[in-house]
Amino acid sequence: MDKVKTSIAENLGGISHKLADKADQFDINHDVPDLSGKVALITGGSEGIGYAVAYTLLKANVTKMFIVSMKEDVKDHAVEEIRQNLGSEYSNKVVWLQCDLSDLPGVTEVAKQVRNQTDRLDILCLNAARGIMTYQLTDYGLDRHMAINHFGHVTLTSHLLPLLKKTSDTDTVRIHMQSSRSHEDAPKDVRFESLDELNTDLGPNGQYGRSKLAVLLYARYLDAHLHKEYPNILINATHPGIVQTKQSMQDIKEPYPTVGQAMPLAVKYIMKDIWMGCVSTVYAATATTKSGQYICPPAIVEPGSELSQNGQLGEQLMKLTRQIVKEKFGAQSVEKGCPLTDY
Ligand SMILES: NC(=O)c1ccc[n+]([C@@H]2O[C@H](COP(=O)([O-])OP(=O)(O)OC[C@H]3O[C@@H](n4cnc5c(N)ncnc54)[C@H](OP(=O)(O)O)[C@@H]3O)[C@@H](O)[C@H]2O)c1
Repeated sequence: MDKVKTSIAENLGGISHKLADKADQFDINHDVPDLSGKVALITGGSEGIGYAVAYTLLKANVTKMFIVSMKEDVKDHAVEEIRQNLGSEYSNKVVWLQCDLSDLPGVTEVAKQVRNQTDRLDILCLNAARGIMTYQLTDYGLDRHMAINHFGHVTLTSHLLPLLKKTSDTDTVRIHMQSSRSHEDAPKDVRFESLDELNTDLGPNGQYGRSKLAVLLYARYLDAHLHKEYPNILINATHPGIVQTKQSMQDIKEPYPTVGQAMPLAVKYIMKDIWMGCVSTVYAATATTKSGQYICPPAIVEPGSELSQNGQLGEQLMKLTRQIVKEKFGAQSVEKGCPLTDY
């Protein structure tokens, strides 16, 4: 019974969070600390779960809120909603940086713009993603799910490391990575051994699941290396639940037109809304004092799949990541003195 209650709390909407143990509760209306003086960055912060996170951090008085996403009209809508609900002194704190995370030189440029506009970074939320969609390659020949969900975020983090480390000299820094329960859909024989392996079409669920396994492995990898050396930097991954967003309600129709039409309507009334879907992320980004955890809503720590706990697989993933970045972007990055320092 406890398992059923926990699974409902972690995944579904309505009053589900109340089913969690008291120790695992987190309420964005009461438990978010005051964030005055703190600077945050979130990818995918203008829509869906990321928007609810950005809004909540602003409401808690974060001093500057960088949002990295792609669509200007979506960002304009988000900022206007913040202005209408919280006031222009809050919406004026948003700094929007347009970027497609699969464009790694573009991501590097964005990190440079961030470094030029702040001398601290307290909260880094790596939230944006390509959802359950069909297989695609980027123009430089890399699986688009891995490119956006993993490579883009690794590149961004690596270029922001000096800022994060400097901030951690005096304050706690929290890095959050949005994984998913779907990390369990990664194939059991995943090795992260070659570009050819990454570029094999696994189908929409396998493709997405493998990229979310990579996100979780990367969080544990940074915990093992970065947190060990910089104990004030806490790195955690989350699952947000099953949440009503563009990804779950619209993007899903791309690979599954028939199921996609009917399914979201059927489950709409039991899914979390974005305010419930942002809870585990806001907890990881503002309140936790632990590192290396996989946190489900509201603030329930889960072990994750066996593969996600395999440190050797995480090392192999990051070895392959460095190798592919060097192969694909050596001329723009490595040979210009950027060795992709990942911790
Ligand atoms: N919804 C769920 O049930 C669920 C479940 C488990 C995990 N998640 C995870 O939660 C996170 C947020 O998803 P969501 O459900 O809130 O989806 P969403 O509403 O579709 O939002 C996705 C966000 O990611 C941004 N994004 C997508 N591709 C990008 C790219 N190539 N470069 C830069 N930004 C990009 C989008 O920016 P633009 O609007 O500018 O395109 C948007 O802001 C994702 O990591 C997702 O995998 C969601």
